[in-house]
Amino acid sequence: MASPTIRLNAGNEMPLLGLGVLNRERPDLTSHAVSAALNLGYRLFDTASVYNNERDVGEAIKAADISRPDIFVTTKLWIGHYGYDQTIRAFHASLKRLALEYVDLYLLHWPYPTRFDLTIASYRAVEHLKEQGLIKSIGVSNFGPELLQGLLREVKTVPAVNQVELHPFFAQRELRVIHAELGIVTQAWSPLGRSVGISKTRLLGSTPLEHPLIQSLSSKYSKSPAQIILRWHIQNGITVIPKSVNEHRLLKNAKIFDFELAPGDLAAIDTLDTGRRFSLEPDAVVPGTYPTIVAD
Ligand code: A2P
Repeated sequence: MASPTIRLNAGNEMPLLGLGVLNRERPDLTSHAVSAALNLGYRLFDTASVYNNERDVGEAIKAADISRPDIFVTTKLWIGHYGYDQTIRAFHASLKRLALEYVDLYLLHWPYPTRFDLTIASYRAVEHLKEQGLIKSIGVSNFGPELLQGLLREVKTVPAVNQVELHPFFAQRELRVIHAELGIVTQAWSPLGRSVGISKTRLLGSTPLEHPLIQSLSSKYSKSPAQIILRWHIQNGITVIPKSVNEHRLLKNAKIFDFELAPGDLAAIDTLDTGRRFSLEPDAVVPGTYPTIVAD
């Protein structure tokens, strides 16, 4: 399977589907998951300095012997390293751990609303790294509409991507409209709504995967619930990075480009939006926090 790609505003192509590699309980499984995914045709890998597995991602990529331009690697700057000089240092440390010459997409992992000056200084440092050819595209993560507008008032480069919590229970419609106006690609983390906390989503009666509507569409299309949800993202122009360390699920999650959901079914899934996030509010995240986003 090869994922179609989308052209980012900096000109490079990004696969619509990639593998998220956060695994706090079993970081030792990262390298195996990346190798298995590469064998299955995944070409986008999304890590972060705070995941503590950039080295494993780099090793698996190196072992695969696939031409570097055919692989898309994203990593992220942790807010504990915000500030101009700290950002330059943190980026070079990530690059070294990944054992790469450049990264395809470098994201500011969270906004830091109470020290927005540091957020902006970091973004400017990342712009400099891009000018040096060390980063192909600049992006942000977990930025809401106000913080995104605040950033754009201060910097030269429109982010190529904003990676946010986005699944049928939290569809981020207002943000997606703003992204479309600005040419920013929306990328969904936790697209299946699992790692935002199964117990929290179950307060609504079920997780997205277990929801009766998703289950009935799964029967109707003879696709798994995850395939239905990921296809809903793709048809809404949202790129996805579902996580899995299981080869069977890795394979199935990638098989979403051979069927189409009818407009009425897309609209039905749209009705599941609760308008509320399940992960942390951006202003609750500080340098000492590592957000708990592992399935419970
Ligand atoms: P596993 O690694 O055992 O496959 P998300 O990316 O939405 O946060 O979801 C990630 C979580 O969902 C992981 O715990 C992963 O577990 C699980 N998962 C991944 N793919 C599927 C799937 N197709 N069906 C059910 N659970 C899945």
